[in-house]
Amino acid sequence: MENIFADRVNKVPPYIFVQISRKIAEKKAQGINVISFGIGDPDLPTPSSIIDELISSSTTPGNHRYPESEGLLSFRKEVSIWYKSRFGIEVNPENEIISLIGAKEGIGHAAFCFIDPGDIALVPDPGYPVYSIGTLFAGGHSYLMPLTENNGWLPDIDSIPPNIANKAKVIWLNYPNNPTGAIATSDYFKHVVKFAEKYNIAVLHDACYTEITYDGYKPPSFLETPGAMDIGAEFHSLSKTFNMTGWRLGMAAGNKDIIDKLLIVKSNLDSGVPAAIQEMGVKALQEPSNLIQERNTIYKNRRDLVINKLNSLGLTVDPPKASLYIWAKVPEGFTSESFSETVLEQCDVLVSPGTGYGENGAGYVRLSLTLSDKDIQTALERMSKLNI
Ligand SMILES: Cc1ncc(COP(=O)(O)O)c(C=O)c1O
Repeated sequence: MENIFADRVNKVPPYIFVQISRKIAEKKAQGINVISFGIGDPDLPTPSSIIDELISSSTTPGNHRYPESEGLLSFRKEVSIWYKSRFGIEVNPENEIISLIGAKEGIGHAAFCFIDPGDIALVPDPGYPVYSIGTLFAGGHSYLMPLTENNGWLPDIDSIPPNIANKAKVIWLNYPNNPTGAIATSDYFKHVVKFAEKYNIAVLHDACYTEITYDGYKPPSFLETPGAMDIGAEFHSLSKTFNMTGWRLGMAAGNKDIIDKLLIVKSNLDSGVPAAIQEMGVKALQEPSNLIQERNTIYKNRRDLVINKLNSLGLTVDPPKASLYIWAKVPEGFTSESFSETVLEQCDVLVSPGTGYGENGAGYVRLSLTLSDKDIQTALERMSKLNI
């Protein structure tokens, strides 16, 4: 089996969390239960009304057969209604929306719509890894756009050299942002549209966290931006909004040529989202908005508890207005890895090193708010004993 595997799999960078997982396993073998602020996977259950819908839709014989790759029209119509009520924009369910097996699937496959070998994608660093891995799998190169405190965690698109911008096919954005929790304004999106028009670049916006918000903040959709529907698409997910990570359901909406190309890729590589899961999605999108508000109150309380503790330990944190993540600057004398290791060693608590999301995550750690209130309380008590 030597030398027969493709570069695209051999070149995937080693996963920084492998070493951490090993340490957690060692602790577990010693009977120590590590509490993890690692993965952004909601601990809260899918609301029972949505589960009830699955129970009944699973008995419909038509749902036992192959789904259509573009998704159920009833789901796409509900997405369109949601876009209208939430963002005030018209998106045609017939040809401007497609169902996804989670946003991750659509993001990964989108690279195959644009990237030929040698092509460039503009990718934020730190960022959700699938933008660059999808690019790698399609044979392209990622030009990394640093997200830093100085640029407000927004790519400084004016500093991208024209020879790179001329060659680039796509720019990836993600607001509210993972891992930094940063947000983007409508003006920023307008600036991106101008840049994309100038260089003939598609804008692919990952909007998975628009519904997880605090302090009355309401993030815009990229698609609200004048001109966005001509050159962009937005990826969305029911995973975080409705605690549905396990069910795998998302959608892309936007320019009809982009949606059409995504359908070509998807219909040749997967057969779409199970229909019963999409019927859960219809139900979810019809849920009254107080369901989301109540859930956000739980996250807000967790956010404030965690930030208080981190501040008392000497970490600087800008409270996020949205997303599931706390992005904290580590105390002086530490790197993101050494701080994460120290917390794991001394407190049996995992906080993710920022470098796990890209080089520019150096000096930061990410804490996800998706663990139970009880676990958070225990973790914070353990962290009080941190000796640094
Ligand atoms: C920024 C971002 N995009 C996409 C996803 C994947 O979402 P889904 O569960 O819909 O595949 C995640 C999951 O953590 C994410 O953080």
